[in-house]
Amino acid sequence: MDSLFSQLPDSHTVLYGVFGNPIKHSKSPVMMNRAFRETGTNAVYAAFEVKQDQLREAIQGVRALNYRGINVTIPHKVEVMRLLDHVDEDARRIGAVNTIVNEDGRLIGYNTDGLGYVRSLKEETGSLQGKRILVLGAGGAARGVGFALAKEQPAALWIANRTVEKAVSLAKDISPYCETTGIGYDRVADLHSVDLIVNTTSVGMHPHVDATPLDTTFITPNMIVSDLVYNPLTTKLLAAAKSIGATAHSGLGMFIYQGAIAFEHWTGKPAPIAAMREAVEQALKE
Ligand code: ATR
Repeated sequence: MDSLFSQLPDSHTVLYGVFGNPIKHSKSPVMMNRAFRETGTNAVYAAFEVKQDQLREAIQGVRALNYRGINVTIPHKVEVMRLLDHVDEDARRIGAVNTIVNEDGRLIGYNTDGLGYVRSLKEETGSLQGKRILVLGAGGAARGVGFALAKEQPAALWIANRTVEKAVSLAKDISPYCETTGIGYDRVADLHSVDLIVNTTSVGMHPHVDATPLDTTFITPNMIVSDLVYNPLTTKLLAAAKSIGATAHSGLGMFIYQGAIAFEHWTGKPAPIAAMREAVEQALKE
């Protein structure tokens, strides 16, 4: 009781939050407040529904009220970059910011999505070095994840997308870091020895839970199949992978680790991963 009591906000409480729209579904407050409590950090984290035309004012608010850290989610991840004092090189390359650190009034933007994804994937499935990777989708999520995967020294990376030009364009951007090719879905069947499939599209997400982003007959037992979608936790793609005997990796890990890396930027403390995961899993059940 004592330790809980000492966590109640007072005049020293450090402020954090997430800006997005919609935001009511967000599990970030539950996860981050649990992380603060677990580490005895006097801080609170709230969710703010920020309309697209009010992002500038919201960022001014961060400065005026001296918020220490903000997460930024859909639809503000690209637009927010213009409003900051500095954007980290990786975030600039990805073209999106999801974490802001307020360093004595200087707002610095980072992107922890791709790094969070790779940290979670490696934690659950091992090294990516020498792997042959197929990424499905070429949107914002694919960009963050694609650059982070490319830095892990895979043997080859393919990006398949419904709109082929977007796959080709993203592959071109990533190719200085790793041999990368953009293709249409019609060419996926020709690929051989793929070790890892990563779905970055929203296909299979609630309520369209019966859809899969690719023909699941492509999956073989030696593959790792990873889905960024975590609502439902086991997508149809992951269920198919499991039934074939392949290794399934859920998108929940990416969500937890992107938050963990943000927490580390803000507090300088190691993130309490297990407690954060427990808080999110509990919230998803409710
Ligand atoms: P995010 O930031 O979540 O990646 P996005 O930038 O809008 O969102 O990208 C969505 C991705 O999902 C794209 O690769 C999109 O394919 P297109 O570029 O062809 O639009 C893909 N996607 C969405 N719905 C899809 C569907 N029904 N079938 C195949 N791909 C789909």
